[in-house]
Amino acid sequence: MADTMQGLKRTHYCGEVLPSLIGETVVVTGWVQKTRDLGNLVFIDLRDRTGIVQLAFNDGTQREIFEKAAAARAEFVLMAKGLVRRRESVNTEIPTGEVEVYVDDLRVLAKSQTPPFEIVNDTNVKEELRLKYRYLDLRRPVMQNAIMMRHKIVKVARDYYDNNGFLEIETPILIKSTPEGARDYLVPSRVHPGKFFALPQSPQLYKQILMLSGYDRYMQIARCFRDEDLRADRQPEFTQIDLEMSFVDEEDVMTVNEGFVKEVFHKVLSVEVKTPFKRLCYDEAMSRYGSDKPDTRFGLELVDLSDLLKNCEFKVFAGALAEGGSVRGINVKGAAATLTRKEIDKLTDFVKTYRTKGLAFTRLTAEAESSSYEKFLTEEEKTAIRTALGAETGDVLLLVADSKNKVVFDSLGALRSHLARKLDLIQPGTFDFLWVTDFPMYEWSEEENRFMAMHHPFTSPKLEDLDKMASGDLGHVYARAYDMVLNGTELGGGSIRINDPDIQSKVFSALGFTEEEAQERFGFLLNAFQYGVPPHGGMAYGLDRLVMLMLGKDSIKDVIAFPKVQNSSELMTMCPSAVEEKNLRELSIAVTATEEE
Ligand code: AMO
Ligand code: AMP
Repeated sequence: MADTMQGLKRTHYCGEVLPSLIGETVVVTGWVQKTRDLGNLVFIDLRDRTGIVQLAFNDGTQREIFEKAAAARAEFVLMAKGLVRRRESVNTEIPTGEVEVYVDDLRVLAKSQTPPFEIVNDTNVKEELRLKYRYLDLRRPVMQNAIMMRHKIVKVARDYYDNNGFLEIETPILIKSTPEGARDYLVPSRVHPGKFFALPQSPQLYKQILMLSGYDRYMQIARCFRDEDLRADRQPEFTQIDLEMSFVDEEDVMTVNEGFVKEVFHKVLSVEVKTPFKRLCYDEAMSRYGSDKPDTRFGLELVDLSDLLKNCEFKVFAGALAEGGSVRGINVKGAAATLTRKEIDKLTDFVKTYRTKGLAFTRLTAEAESSSYEKFLTEEEKTAIRTALGAETGDVLLLVADSKNKVVFDSLGALRSHLARKLDLIQPGTFDFLWVTDFPMYEWSEEENRFMAMHHPFTSPKLEDLDKMASGDLGHVYARAYDMVLNGTELGGGSIRINDPDIQSKVFSALGFTEEEAQERFGFLLNAFQYGVPPHGGMAYGLDRLVMLMLGKDSIKDVIAFPKVQNSSELMTMCPSAVEEKNLRELSIAVTATEEE
């Protein structure tokens, strides 16, 4: 039988047992990190979420306690009382390394099986195993640190927005399914057979309703659900710091949020972020960086070479231009020695994953120049390209041509970031914030063969573009939307919303919704908006992404206690899982296909 805690109470966390306590009696609790049994001496490293402290036992220790200590194994849960004293061999690696607790009462509160992996920071255990035993993985100090930092960030957020007059208001998790955006997770209704709730992709509609209801400034740490494919910075279930404000314009929303970023970086990391942030409009972000979330910590900017090549005879370039596309390039300064032909072949494979057909190159090595396309160009064209790219000996020029500008941007945008990592162009520890503004209102969807809302259909178009909407020139309508970008990741985004029913119905009809369809999908909002809706706007941060970037992690899984894996399942509890026939019958649901186990 395990010992009880009777008569003892924890006085200190392990990490708090510092030299200032020498001579005092403390009671600590925790898990056994490791034991060293030297025959007549036993040492135990005891770990809790604050750190590790050494427990010591020797000839002078009561026999029964000494034996218990000698029998302790990794991950046993102990409670120990004893005198804090100076250690003989100091451990400079940990804050408690100068002292130890000389134990006179030891309780084994729980035993543990041998864990499937050692609870240490540096582990090369497969992620799958770590997630299966997430409860053990979460004991690792790096994980505990991440989870504690996450708490702190959320706390600063709540305090900051509270200090700025925001109210935290919960919105429902079971809501009406509305199309647009990602796929919804659906929840069947038992009471209404054949009907479904959806889990919210964000509290968007509710927070707008709250503005209409007069709550003026709202915020929420909000759970969101999107049935989309996972990536390193994407989970099907994630958390937003979500907010909305009335009687504001873009500047007001941006200023409040720059203030938040400044505060959270100061309070949590002691990093001073400079405000106001840089701003780039969408068109400029795309043309210079090939991305609407550009990483501006390094150069490698895109240069449009289309005009210089409009009469060129090289089929690849001429063909792309003839079909309304473009030829763009980047200059990788001084990389001729590193980017060998073989490396360029690898880069070609890399860009091809972005649907480009190839990568044209010129290597300007001191000894010999080589190029895949210059032989097809005139001397003037060749010189013009080199001048436009600022080419010098030692540089490598990389060009992409395609009939679709999106392919050129996507491939060169991704290539920039790939090269920056490969060539070590990014100074670690820098936090580079910017706003991307003036997004297009609509974007053409190849799959659906129609224009879709780039943000969501409640985003206000720029008022000066309203007539373009009327004339059907949707590609040139811009939105009052903004994204906050940090180090090339979209940290958050939002917009000023439509508060004029006329404009709202124009936006819907431009999206191809009839009056009835708009009513059926968003009727409650449209009806509500007939009762006095203030001008309003807001934004939402991906909290997981914020924590990930603040802690310098590569994946949001490292900052979520119980994340899902690539195929959207959770390995510890093994869900999703089949349910009993009886439950399905109650929900009037028939399963027509099952996954092969
Ligand atoms: P949006 O869809 O841009 O806007 O989402 C806001 C922010 O949430 C984060 N995010 C995600 N994080 C992890 N996993 C995901 N699957 C995921 N999807 C999004 C991103 C993103 O910038 N209602 C609007 C906001 C508004 O207009 O106020 C919205 O949800 O960091
Ligand atoms: P080819 O005439 O097809 O052998 O192509 C000559 C060079 O142009 C090769 O280096 C190709 O990789 C490159 N190339 C082919 N397609 C493209 C493209 N869409 N954009 C840029 N370069 C390309």
